[in-house]
Amino acid sequence: MKIIVTGAAGFIGSCFVRQVLNETSDVSIIALDKLTYAGNLENLKSVADLPTFQFVRADIADADAIESLLAQEQPDAIVHFAAESHVDRSILSPAPVFETNLKGTFVLLEAARKQKTPRFVHVSTDEVYGSIREPFEADESYPLIASSPYSASKAGSDLLALSYFTTYKQPVIVTRASNNYGPYQFPEKLIPLMITNAFEDKPLPVYGNGMQVRDWLFVEDHCRAIHSVLLSGKEGEVYNIGGSRSLPNIEVVHKILEITGKPESLIQYVTDRPGHDLRYALSSEKIEKTTGWNPQVSFESGLKLTVDWYLQNTPWVDRVKSGAYLDYYEQNYAGREKASSH
Ligand code: NAD
Ligand code: TYD
Repeated sequence: MKIIVTGAAGFIGSCFVRQVLNETSDVSIIALDKLTYAGNLENLKSVADLPTFQFVRADIADADAIESLLAQEQPDAIVHFAAESHVDRSILSPAPVFETNLKGTFVLLEAARKQKTPRFVHVSTDEVYGSIREPFEADESYPLIASSPYSASKAGSDLLALSYFTTYKQPVIVTRASNNYGPYQFPEKLIPLMITNAFEDKPLPVYGNGMQVRDWLFVEDHCRAIHSVLLSGKEGEVYNIGGSRSLPNIEVVHKILEITGKPESLIQYVTDRPGHDLRYALSSEKIEKTTGWNPQVSFESGLKLTVDWYLQNTPWVDRVKSGAYLDYYEQNYAGREKASSH
């Protein structure tokens, strides 16, 4: 099976590529990424020499590049992770979010339609359901009530993807996962930001009162779920993927302080995010029943593993924070992307 993975150099996409190439023998992957600030090819270093790995630097919103790639490669599947993925950035600067998340998804769907790509997994988020009132959980039929430019762009791209199934019978599947955490996450999201700030004894900025609730999913569990949906999910369907571990942000921060041995005085309550969703809560019953998938990693062990990873990878953190994330690409790939390995 030949898969094009978009956003393959990002946090979740790179985990998916490493996992699939390490755990299966009959798959080759074309890792596609624009390499924005969030994409770092160093994340794929451990699989880059495999003959089953190939990297292509491209923008998913570039129709010519995407159409010629699909025409040439004729992949068996596309797993689409590429996105502008950060809510706070989407509030400060919405334009790139719509360019990539909406136009980019449209370009991919169109190219896949023209080439009759047999499978298209569109990776989305529980944020499309908006804030969920206690004690309810969103199942796949819950209305889309997106609050931020990021979640609105994801909701729009979900609807677009599903419309391609309804209208063109294009074999599309949508997944909606809860908040991911784990190694290689850009230190702008809650967990890696708090870990890396704690290491440096910098303030930990908690928005509002810190009582907003998120459901935490270890990134490797998410990637296993996507792999099972890729193999056995039903076309035209949506699958929620939750971590079954809901916690208020402030509790997450306390746990990080406990693991890192840092004082609570580092916590700094700051102005809340505009339009902040108070509570995400997801039912994953459908994927659990239909594929047998379950999250395997407890929040406590996943968080400890994540803290340890950041502690052991401070040079990676320094490079992505200083904007040197392109160094690895330039030293190993630039101009040679189409080679089977660098
Ligand atoms: P990320 O920001 O770490 O990675 C995104 C990747 O996409 C980067 O490598 C970036 O370079 C690439 N990219 C951005 N714009 C591109 C473009 N125009 N063309 C090609 N590549 C481009 O994001 P992530 O956390 O790995 O999220 C991956 C996907 O999973 C996203 O679609 C996101 O909406 C979804 N998701 C994320 C979470 C989460 O908690 N992080 C939860 C649920 C769903
Ligand atoms: P984030 O990691 O940005 O993910 P999302 O907004 O997609 O859920 O934020 C997770 C939660 O943590 C969210 O409620 C916002 C909050 N948060 C803070 O309190 N402080 C921060 O510095 C960040 C980045 C997030």
